[in-house]
Amino acid sequence: MKQTIVPANGKLGILIPGLGAVATTFIAGVEAVKKGIAHPIGSLTQMGNIRVGKRTENNNPAINDFVPLAQLNDIVFGGWDIYEDNVYEAALNAKVLELPLLQSIKTELEVIKPMKAVFDRSYVANLDGVHVKKAATKYDLALELIEDIENFKILNNVNRVVLVWCGSTEKYIEQSEIHATIESFEAALKDNDDRIAPSMIYAYAALKIGVPFANGAPNLTCDIPALIQLAKETQTPIGGKDFKTGQTLMKTILAPGLHARSLGVRGWFSTNILGNRDGYVLDNPENFKTKEVSKLSVLDEIFKPELNPELYGELYHKVRINYYPPHGDNKESWDNIDIFGWLGYPMQIKINFLCRDSILAAPIVLDLALFLDLAKRAEMSGIQEWLSFYFKSPQTMEGLPPEHDIFKQLIKLQNTLRHMMGEDLITHLGLDYYQELVESM
Ligand SMILES: NC(=O)c1ccc[n+]([C@@H]2O[C@H](COP(=O)([O-])OP(=O)(O)OC[C@H]3O[C@@H](n4cnc5c(N)ncnc54)[C@H](O)[C@@H]3O)[C@@H](O)[C@H]2O)c1
Repeated sequence: MKQTIVPANGKLGILIPGLGAVATTFIAGVEAVKKGIAHPIGSLTQMGNIRVGKRTENNNPAINDFVPLAQLNDIVFGGWDIYEDNVYEAALNAKVLELPLLQSIKTELEVIKPMKAVFDRSYVANLDGVHVKKAATKYDLALELIEDIENFKILNNVNRVVLVWCGSTEKYIEQSEIHATIESFEAALKDNDDRIAPSMIYAYAALKIGVPFANGAPNLTCDIPALIQLAKETQTPIGGKDFKTGQTLMKTILAPGLHARSLGVRGWFSTNILGNRDGYVLDNPENFKTKEVSKLSVLDEIFKPELNPELYGELYHKVRINYYPPHGDNKESWDNIDIFGWLGYPMQIKINFLCRDSILAAPIVLDLALFLDLAKRAEMSGIQEWLSFYFKSPQTMEGLPPEHDIFKQLIKLQNTLRHMMGEDLITHLGLDYYQELVESM
């Protein structure tokens, strides 16, 4: 049965904490696409198709035609940052996109000016900005963010908003008793508890007023019982953590293939060099630890060593990130993979990916914003596991192992869309085609 989905009438506001390299590349990209001077490559919502019905029916509509998504011309952007630069200036500083492209959309970008951020240097030691809110308690800061969101809606004549965190990676923290319930979390906000990170304050503000929230960084943020409960209470969809780009994207493409053919893996060494501000923040060991935990989780879940100890029991997995300014946003990654095959004979795979970090992340921001808005209109709330496709470390219900295999993630995403639209789910079994053939003979 088709779900009831409120149509995407009116404008959609995409509000972004952290107007750095990823966010400005995303916003500039959408503006360029709207002007017809570029294509939204890498975005499933803009370029992907979905099969509907049997393979023999050859019905593969564009996803954008299949589900009622907000259209690019109806999007309005806004955000917060600890620096005052408008989006044009921030995009110039990020050095991802070329000057002629940025100049052609300068007017659209210049008008997007960051609101004052909620920031705490103890969470991001390598950054220091002055465009920051001051209030007596973290609870007051949350109320100011709520006011920002409400004002943005009025000023821009927007009737729906989603938040996508594109701010820096915060220092590593673990869940504690203050994160357990809405009550303990609100008490801790009022007590200015150190264990509440700035990203949690944004997430709380959004969820409190029913605004969907996606977490593009590996921060704990809304992956705590208090905020999951709040999301359920206010019927708000959430998703996280950490955009799946670059090296981890490659890992979740390749590892399922090795696993599918029962090939053994003894070691996987991954190293990166990058020189953008993200790399600078991650140069601090406390911030790197948050990223490392997110990146390391991937292989265990795909290989499941406990089921196949002879193939994956000895797997040694190491991830390194090195800050190297000359490369800027053009991250270079190397993977050395020690595998073994028939009778244990060893082989090696080497990957050298010369990628562009923000170019890979930008379409993810767009898809997440559009799908979360769709989910909200379809009355889906809490963790949206079908969006795991976009995350390095997918958030799941407590006790449920995440799915990292990108192909299974895609099937789950597509089946969720089919389910929403009341179409048959596709199992890829296909036996019925042959049965029908036999019967017709
Ligand atoms: N680019 C990728 O491929 C990729 C992949 C996965 C995750 N990420 C994550 O996405 C985030 C953004 O990456 P980026 O390359 O744009 O980094 P960036 O350093 O260019 O941008 C981050 C911005 O966030 C701002 N900021 C920090 N704390 C803030 C706060 N509390 N409130 C508002 N603004 C704040 C910073 O001033 C900066 O402008 C990082 O956490 C990064 O780890 C990026």
